[in-house]
Amino acid sequence: MKILYSASDIAQKVQELGQEISSAYRGQDLFIVGILKGGFVFMSDLIRHIDLPIKIGFARLSSYGNADCPQSEVKVLDDLEDVIEGKHVLIVDDIMDTGNSLIAFKKRLEKRNPASVKICTMIDKTFRRCSLITPDYFGFRLSDGFIVGYGLDYAENYRALPDIYVLDSMDREGSR
Ligand code: IMP
Ligand code: MG
Repeated sequence: MKILYSASDIAQKVQELGQEISSAYRGQDLFIVGILKGGFVFMSDLIRHIDLPIKIGFARLSSYGNADCPQSEVKVLDDLEDVIEGKHVLIVDDIMDTGNSLIAFKKRLEKRNPASVKICTMIDKTFRRCSLITPDYFGFRLSDGFIVGYGLDYAENYRALPDIYVLDSMDREGSR
């Protein structure tokens, strides 16, 4: 596996993102929704760089990727339990790929009358995007490739690696 973003590249980027988000929401409270499982590593670093009053919650979505961009609703395995009415909500996840799961989840949250809902992902992977959606905030943008580490998995492996790696097909065979 080849390192794409090192732990120090990531730390630098997360700090910048925290500053950007802090300025954007200055004077307001923020409710951060972490998407399990992949988003939790990024979320835990990011919240410590946001200089605002913050509350957090979690939701768990199914993430069956499909190259054909199905229009089906996202499967919510564990929904956000907290009340978000009137709050500024920021969804935090590891990666936006097709965008299907985060669009669907965002629409679902919007029905609960929050003041706003925005999306922040560590990675914005654009090649398979199915709609015009982009993350409101992102760390790194790449076109294509399958990556692991820093929360991102392949078949539940590699989530705990501190760096982000590109996984080639040989690595996928090897992890079985
Ligand atoms: P979506 O296609 O934007 O709905 O992304 C669904 C999910 O696919 C993400 O939350 C990740 O769990 C997973 N995913 C997409 N691309 C990658 C990748 O390169 N590495 C690891 N997981 C990925
Ligand atoms: Mg995920």
